[in-house]
Amino acid sequence: MTRPSSEAASRAELAWDEAARGYDEYFGPRFAPYLGAAVGALAAHSSQLPSGCIVVPCVGPGRELRPLARAFGERQIIASDLSGEMVTLARERNRDLPNVSVERADAMQLATPNVAAVLSVFGLQLLPDPVAALGSWLKLLHTGGLAAIVYWPRDAEPSGPFASMRRLLRSAGVLDGTWEDELPPSVAASGTSLLADLPLVFEIQYEDPRSMWHALTQLGPLRGPSHGSRPNADRPARRTIRGRATAWPAEPHAGSAPAPAPPLAHPLLLRPAPNGPAGPA
Ligand SMILES: C[S@@+](CC[C@H](N)C(=O)[O-])C[C@H]1O[C@@H](n2cnc3c(N)ncnc32)[C@H](O)[C@@H]1O
Repeated sequence: MTRPSSEAASRAELAWDEAARGYDEYFGPRFAPYLGAAVGALAAHSSQLPSGCIVVPCVGPGRELRPLARAFGERQIIASDLSGEMVTLARERNRDLPNVSVERADAMQLATPNVAAVLSVFGLQLLPDPVAALGSWLKLLHTGGLAAIVYWPRDAEPSGPFASMRRLLRSAGVLDGTWEDELPPSVAASGTSLLADLPLVFEIQYEDPRSMWHALTQLGPLRGPSHGSRPNADRPARRTIRGRATAWPAEPHAGSAPAPAPPLAHPLLLRPAPNGPAGPA
């Protein structure tokens, strides 16, 4: 088990601990198709995988583990999450599966040996350095191994409620960064082949914009910034996020209609080159 590496990781852990059960209940069923797509992408290549385990960083409440354990019954599935509460949920949900274990670990510092595949859904975009994280996951893989990674794009749509939300968050200093643009060149430079980068388009239903905003800021990734306890640095972000909790439904495009789902999630299927710079250490 690795401990959180920094104050930022401890704060993220606390926020996800508090959000865990609500996230599982609210987002779990909504995100299920994305989890299934990731498991399916890996299962489609099962006969080509080298020997070894499958690691699942940022597993959250562990809904991807049962289909994964079924598809890869002969392999060890080693899942992990920063949040102790998420780890508890994932263990509870999968306790009858003998080939599944769940540990608490910072996805920026994984050191699992004997890895055939990495599968991670909706964790990468939350990490402090997604490019470095993905690079380190690829380095864990045996020759011929595969990574199936699904992440939310930074800009889900050119206009509409999600675009408004991103603009607001950016103006408050949250969710910025250039990592998404850096991902393809960094993957290419590591000698890794990108086997697939196909848009996933599943419909997600929300009751209305206000409840979705509540879920994002209380049960999801914005809980950390909206509840941050550092006295100065987080104040503009907290103000913006909490302010929008009441004002956002009045934004153009949001109205009283259900907010549309972000149209695309990115699933990447990656295979490091044999003996390339990202080959096994
Ligand atoms: C959006 S949830 C995704 C959970 C699950 N894979 C799913 O798709 O429903 C993101 C998860 O990443 C975890 N997380 C955030 N930062 C992390 C880090 N540095 N290391 C490991 N897990 C982290 C959170 O605790 C949370 O459970």
